[in-house]
Amino acid sequence: MLKTTPNLHADLDSILITEQRLKRRLKKLGEEITEAYEDKEITAISIINGAIFFTADLLRKIHRPVRLDCIRVSSYRNHTTSKEKPQILDTLRLNVAKQHILLIDDILDTGKTLSVVAKLLKKRRPASLKTCVLLDKQGRREVDFEADFVGFKIPDNFVVGYGLDFAERYRNLPDIGILKPSLQNPPEWG
Ligand code: IMP
Ligand code: MG
Repeated sequence: MLKTTPNLHADLDSILITEQRLKRRLKKLGEEITEAYEDKEITAISIINGAIFFTADLLRKIHRPVRLDCIRVSSYRNHTTSKEKPQILDTLRLNVAKQHILLIDDILDTGKTLSVVAKLLKKRRPASLKTCVLLDKQGRREVDFEADFVGFKIPDNFVVGYGLDFAERYRNLPDIGILKPSLQNPPEWG
């Protein structure tokens, strides 16, 4: 049985970033990253599932050689706040020693996820490590962490769409929107 309304947009309070705005920003972000890496090959590490959509679109706007790998990190499950320390669930296949890593995530919130993953990657002795996030909720930081490339700074609202989920739903919304508070944390959602 469907647990969301059939029209995903109806579950939003409002749209925060439209598909068109996302497209425009990604083109610019791609240019920024292209410039930053000059003659270097990039090893992109995408934190899945959230960063899947962003990574796929962004990498096609970067005009440098790119290798891609993914890392899976436990996160919110069915809650809108992260309480526990993030756990690495599935790790890298690529050797990243002496490589230029671009770590990509959908959103920088408390900073816990990216700081844990960045720490793990640094142990593998890359030539450089930069981070790129689509969204940055600067006001929510609990650990000191800033990304090198940021798509949009956003206020402290729980957002879904364009890869961002609530209990694995809404990732396929083409826009990013604020989920209605009444739909956050329903206990029956598996
Ligand atoms: P952090 O570890 O608190 O920085 O959280 C980062 C992770 O939490 C991201 O990779 C997202 O998966 C998730 N997250 C944080 N805020 C939101 C949100 O507003 N909507 C959906 N997921 C979020
Ligand atoms: Mg996530």
